[in-house]
Amino acid sequence: MCGVIGDPIGHTLSPTIQNAAFNHLGLDFLFLAFHVKTADLEKAIGSMRGLGIHGLNVTMPHKNAVIKYIDEADSAATFLGSANTILNKDGTLSGFNTDGVGALNALRENGEDPSEKKVLLLGAGGAAKAIAFSFAQEAESLCILNRMPEKAIVLADALNRVFGKRIVGGALSPSTLQKNLQDADILVNATSVGMHPTVNQSLVEPKWLKPNLTVMDIVYNPVKTQLVEDAKAVGAKVVSGVEMLIYQGAASFKIWTGKSAPIKVMRKAALNELSSRVDGK
Ligand code: ATR
Repeated sequence: MCGVIGDPIGHTLSPTIQNAAFNHLGLDFLFLAFHVKTADLEKAIGSMRGLGIHGLNVTMPHKNAVIKYIDEADSAATFLGSANTILNKDGTLSGFNTDGVGALNALRENGEDPSEKKVLLLGAGGAAKAIAFSFAQEAESLCILNRMPEKAIVLADALNRVFGKRIVGGALSPSTLQKNLQDADILVNATSVGMHPTVNQSLVEPKWLKPNLTVMDIVYNPVKTQLVEDAKAVGAKVVSGVEMLIYQGAASFKIWTGKSAPIKVMRKAALNELSSRVDGK
C-alpha cells in the first residue's frame, strides 16, 4: 500500500500515475489518496508504521511539517526542510524530496543537459527551492529571480554556502527578467503564474524569447501554458510541467519499488486524466 496525503487532495494526479505504473509492471501495489488535515498529520504518518503503509507522497500543505515526524531525510529533504516522498522500511521512515531531481531528469530526458549551461529560475517558493537545489549542483551558473527578492537572495546565499558556485538571487521584474534572459540557456518558470486562475498569463514577453533557449514550465494544468505556447512559437525547446510531474513521480516509484518507472505509461495516464477534467482543475 502506498498513497498521497494532502489538504486538499481531490485533484491529485498521483494515484492515476502510480497505479498505471504498478499495473503495467504487474506489481502487487495499490496507491490511494488520503485527505489529511494538519491537525492529523502526526497520526497519519504514525499510521504508516501501524498499518504497514509502504510509501507516501506528501503534498501541500504538509511537505515541511512532515520532516519532524520521520526518522531520517536525504540531502535534498534536509537542505529544503521538506519531503514529498516517504519510504517505510521495517518501521523506519525515510524522507526524500524528488521535486528537484524530477525537474532535472525531465530536462535531461527531453534532450537538454543543464551541465555547463546558464539557468534562469523564476520563483523562490517550495518548488523553486527544490529545483534550485538540484540545478545548483549541475549548472554552470544559476540566477534566481523572485517577486519578493529577499527570498531569492536568501536561497542563493544558502546554496552558495553548500556548493560554492555562481548562484545569484534578485528581484523579478520585467527589466531584470529581460536582461537575464539574454544570457540564459535554460529558463525555468517555477512560479504559479500560468496556472488557474492566471491561465493565459506569462511573466515573459514573447519578444524576449529566442530559439536557442530551452524553456521549462512547472505549471502542468493547463499543459499548454501561455509560456509554453510562446516558447514553441519562437522555436525554443520546450519541456512542459507534465514532464516534471512524471519524473518526480518516477523518482518516488523507484524509491518504493526499486524499479525503473515506465515513463511512457505514466505520461499517457497523466495526460488522459488531465484532458478528461472538463472543469479545468
Ligand atoms: P510552490 O510550492 O508551488 O512553489 P509557493 O511556495 O506558494 O508555491 O510559491 C509560489 C511562487 O510563485 C513564489 O515564488 C511566488 O513569488 P513570491 O515569493 O514573491 O510570492 C511566485 N508567484 C506567485 N504569483 C506570482 C506573480 N503574480 N508574479 C510573480 N511571481 C509570482
